[in-house]
Amino acid sequence: MEPIQIAIDGPASAGKSTIAKILATDLNFVYVDTGAMYRSVTLAALKQGVNPAAEADVIALLPHLEISFAPGNPVQKVFLNGEEVTDDIRSNAVTGNVSAVASYGAVRTAMVAQQRQIAAQGGVVMDGRDIGTTVLPDAEVKVFLIASVKERALRRFKENQAKGMTETLAEIEAAVEKRDYLDSHREISPLKKAADAVELDTTGLSIDGVVDAVKQIIAEKV
Ligand code: C5P
Repeated sequence: MEPIQIAIDGPASAGKSTIAKILATDLNFVYVDTGAMYRSVTLAALKQGVNPAAEADVIALLPHLEISFAPGNPVQKVFLNGEEVTDDIRSNAVTGNVSAVASYGAVRTAMVAQQRQIAAQGGVVMDGRDIGTTVLPDAEVKVFLIASVKERALRRFKENQAKGMTETLAEIEAAVEKRDYLDSHREISPLKKAADAVELDTTGLSIDGVVDAVKQIIAEKV
């Protein structure tokens, strides 16, 4: 396969990172979880006692942050200034504040620059909210993954239970809906299907079923 760019966007907990990681492994492409980058900035703010709602204070942290990735199973490892934060960036505190941090223009400019730099190295599967619209507008393949909010909340609920987290299904559903609202209503690069993206509804599909469907979309495009 040519070293193409594959953009996978969609709302919270639609299975983007699971699918993107499997595809990248199968294709021997680089995988970039852009949500992990916004989560890392949010974690840095929380750790340093910076209010995530204070835009100027969050932006002031940016020159001091280095976010990097390393292969890992079942999820890619994430490092913030050399310290592994793979699990910490999934905490409820980070999830509850990340949409605010990701709405700041200077944060997005810094993250997008790093994302494009990684993508320039060759074949890439990148997942996020604005990959097809903003980060990689010329990506050869753009997929917009959706699923009913009930199913997305249920998937996250099962994952959280396995990790010993105690939120109810109703709380998770409310949090998922709130994050989607904030992400799709922000001013800069909101969550939006690119005009040339293929929408795929994964409600009721298994992981293998979604991977097969995305591979079919890739085969039709390249
Ligand atoms: O993908 P994940 O749910 O980990 O993303 C966490 C948050 O990061 C999103 O809710 C969104 O606010 C932000 N994000 C973004 N642009 C991206 C990826 C994630 O704004 N490309």
